[in-house]
Amino acid sequence: MLNTQIIKIDKGNIDKEKIKSLGQIIKNGGLVAFPTETVYGLGANAYNEDAVKSIFVAKGRPSDNPLIVHFADVGDILEAVVEMPEDAKKLFEHFSPGPLTVILKKSDKIGNAVTAGLDTVAVRIPSDKIARELIKSSGVPIAAPSANLSGKPSPTISKHVIEDMTGRIDAIIDGGDCEVGLESTVIDMSSETPVILRPGGITFEAIKKIIPDVTLDKHILKSVNSNDKPKSPGMKYKHYAPDADVTVIEGDINKVNLKIIELLKENKSKRCGVISISNYKYDADLILNTGNNNKEYAKNLFRVLREFDEHKIDVVFAEFVNDNGYGLAVKNRLYKSAGNKVIYV
Ligand code: TXA
Ligand code: MG
Repeated sequence: MLNTQIIKIDKGNIDKEKIKSLGQIIKNGGLVAFPTETVYGLGANAYNEDAVKSIFVAKGRPSDNPLIVHFADVGDILEAVVEMPEDAKKLFEHFSPGPLTVILKKSDKIGNAVTAGLDTVAVRIPSDKIARELIKSSGVPIAAPSANLSGKPSPTISKHVIEDMTGRIDAIIDGGDCEVGLESTVIDMSSETPVILRPGGITFEAIKKIIPDVTLDKHILKSVNSNDKPKSPGMKYKHYAPDADVTVIEGDINKVNLKIIELLKENKSKRCGVISISNYKYDADLILNTGNNNKEYAKNLFRVLREFDEHKIDVVFAEFVNDNGYGLAVKNRLYKSAGNKVIYV
């Protein structure tokens, strides 16, 4: 057990001394959890193979699932990649700093622990002020997956990082709630056609305006069977799953309400929860509202999934209405948390 320091930092008034000592921990091979605009990350010096390996141990993450490397500026990325294609440059110009991750051919600076042996590397420039200051003060790029135990929903509030990581890492920055609430959009720019491997904080529609030939990976909305080899190794693991058994009810909101009323009656003997965007007053043990649009749904989804577990809920019914904007990313995470149990009404 490590003695994990928990350090509060105010985003509006960043304490430079605290950031300096946290940057030193990263530089010297330690692990620090930090907020980003998407979810909390679990960071290590990307150029230190032992430090990177210790991330996998702390999370219980399979070692064949590569990590994203976080930089403060686009210029710093150049040393980590073989080349920066024009379209990738355009993406960074439009969407960085921000919730976008780009896969490029890696240079020799990036070791095998980070990429899980792939010849590509995932790079991203976060916009969160604390994240940026931490990267700058460490003086190295920071390799970081989401700061949850492997398999659990990503942490979007500091309490959830503290629950998962205390005793496992050197320090946790308590920097408040994450703005976006779902992970970054991952786009592969390392081969001929640009492909979105994971929908996230930058929408498909927004990317299509900059790169018209972008497509969506076929694994985004279906489960990966064991014969498949998805481009993004993370897509094949059960993800975002609370202990409760989740079912998504999708369609016109009035029909969704009626179906959930019926399901709640059928499951009377169990502790039932509902993820609600409609504010319908169901007869359930716990109703958690995620706001009435997809942006709010994205921000709150992971937090509410964990809350059902805190309240020992057995089954969760999730309302889902449409794919607009952040909706595709919400749907991707919801389907995964439900193990693809979806009822269309
Ligand atoms: O918003 C985010 O992206 C957060 C914050 C902390 O930056 N990070 C995050 O990391 O979500 P993680 O490790 O939980 O998810 C990274 C995803 C995984 O699905 C992984 O398989 C994929 O990116 N990935 C990483 N490197 C890759 C590569 N070279 N090729 C294909 N997929 C890659
Ligand atoms: Mg993750």
